[in-house]
Amino acid sequence: MNYAEAKSKLSAIGQEHVLKYWDELSEEQRKALLTQVEETDFSVLSRIESAADDKRGEFSPLAAMQRDEIVSREKELHDAGVKAIKEGRTAALLLAGGMGTRLGSDNPKGMFDIGLTKPVYIFERIITNLLDVVKETDTWIRLFIMTSEKNHDATVKFLKEKNFFGYKEDRIVFFKQDMAPACDYNGKLYMEAKDRISTSPNGNAGWYSSLVRAGLDKIFAEEGIEWIDVFAVDNVLQRICDPCFVGATVLADVSVGAKVVRKAAPDEKVGVICLEDGRPSIVEYYELSDEMMNAKDANGEPAYNFGVILNYLFRIKELASVTDDKMPLHVVKKKIPYIDENAAYIKPTEPNGYKFEQLVLDMIHQLSSCLPYEVIREHEFAPIKNPTGIDSVESARELCKKNNIEL
Ligand code: UTP
Repeated sequence: MNYAEAKSKLSAIGQEHVLKYWDELSEEQRKALLTQVEETDFSVLSRIESAADDKRGEFSPLAAMQRDEIVSREKELHDAGVKAIKEGRTAALLLAGGMGTRLGSDNPKGMFDIGLTKPVYIFERIITNLLDVVKETDTWIRLFIMTSEKNHDATVKFLKEKNFFGYKEDRIVFFKQDMAPACDYNGKLYMEAKDRISTSPNGNAGWYSSLVRAGLDKIFAEEGIEWIDVFAVDNVLQRICDPCFVGATVLADVSVGAKVVRKAAPDEKVGVICLEDGRPSIVEYYELSDEMMNAKDANGEPAYNFGVILNYLFRIKELASVTDDKMPLHVVKKKIPYIDENAAYIKPTEPNGYKFEQLVLDMIHQLSSCLPYEVIREHEFAPIKNPTGIDSVESARELCKKNNIEL
């Protein structure tokens, strides 16, 4: 893209100020800015108003595979999972592109050390959990790691230094997720430097389109990978590609398996798996009506009783139909660093504009079928979002101790 093309693209959307400092930029900076203008999808800016109108459909319950069934069918599920893993049909994908702002560390979240008597990094916990399955099945599961432009170099450097915590380097593939532009409350793009539009990672649903754009979907075909376990960086207890979960999803012949935990209370703040207009979906806790909260299933149990934990086993061939424009856009008020009219760099302490994200949970609604698979909360759900309190380093440490993990 040249200057004239960039100017025309930007003026069509009222954002010419992006080129305000053009005359002051070096050749290299000009090139970088033109590339950013060319590659950035600005269509999100025109969806700000309509994003709030995304209407939900009709909700109904979706039965989960519960612990009693999993225990009674353990051998069958386990054998089917081990077979799928040994045949190389299952991969794993770590979502590590987030900013981890709530945790408040400048480093990638996975570099956070939760150890007490020795260093125990979040990445280490996750890789150790995956290595359990590698050892059990004697199979090096292909591991994709999604970073973002903001944390890629630091993530790769750290994992290299730590020798990938024992994972086989040539079974790991990194890729960067796409970025979305950030703007003020009037939809005007922020600049984070004279030669750079402010951006942030485009949400964890960005994993599939970013992976395809990076040309990595060819690995699926080359290696015969049919299923991919997509999981968050911050749950230090989760099992990844564990054979029973894999087996249950494969045998159920669904588009996606979703790990869920039984809700601790009817009004617990978790997204609940259900059907929406007959397709799998996740209803947020604030969207649950009293009627839904009190609804019972045929066994007299709460009908909307299972919360998602961001660990999904997707059937890859169905993902081609999940396109970004079909998914809701989440317009989120955030603190966005920018340069002011005097080109001074400002790091706001309060939200000052919008970031745009698409969420992996919205991918579920694009698929035709889903198996919610119950895991035991105390054994598999220790998310780290905050330094203290709920879903924190403290609560995760407690849960690790209960599971005899040395910290
Ligand atoms: P969170 O929703 O907890 O977001 O991400 P976050 O960015 O890590 O943390 P906060 O909200 O700024 O405190 C859940 C998972 O999705 C990944 C995160 O890395 C985490 O594993 N994620 C999130 C991405 O990979 N990309 C994104 O754009 C957003």
